[in-house]
Amino acid sequence: MTPINQKHRTVLFLTASLAGIAAVLTATLQGADTPADKPAAAGKSPTYADVQPLLKKYCYDCHGGGKAAKSQYTLDTRENALKGGKNKKPGIVAGDATKGELMRRISLAQTEKEVMPPKAKAPKVTVPPTADEIKTIADWINAGAKWE
Ligand code: HEC
Repeated sequence: MTPINQKHRTVLFLTASLAGIAAVLTATLQGADTPADKPAAAGKSPTYADVQPLLKKYCYDCHGGGKAAKSQYTLDTRENALKGGKNKKPGIVAGDATKGELMRRISLAQTEKEVMPPKAKAPKVTVPPTADEIKTIADWINAGAKWE
């Protein structure tokens, strides 16, 4: 019976080794994900459900619906968000986050006069969106800026 046992042990050993290699490979691949890559790494682009809370938090105070919107720019409908405001430049160019006033303004340095949300002075200090949040908006625009 010894030969059979030996064979068994070899098979078991090989199986265990393969499982080990697979585990290391999986860990390595997962380790490649940086937090900023999360939506893309998960295999899908951010949706409006991911982006709307950001617009609400950072923009709706001044660009919600209605006539009071600053610079006549409202983020209440896709049509208005794309169209832009008083300066007549497109707010969003669906499919291209390198274009559009929304992306340009939120990507500006905090020292720039045109940055959005505007830099408020103490005691009313504006908290700007984080780099991750800006990337989420950019990914969503690149994926077509779908309003659903
Ligand atoms: C505290 C009020 C306030 C907040 C919050 C705010 N904005 Fe503005 N926004 C303004 C004002 C005032 C103007 C007009 C002056 C200017 O162009 O800088 C403006 C202008 C703009 C314009 C140019 C529109 C045009 O065509 O004239 C865009 C685009 C814009 N904002 C996007 C945003 C986005 C995106 C956010 C959120 C990340 C945001 N804003 C948050 C006050 C605000």
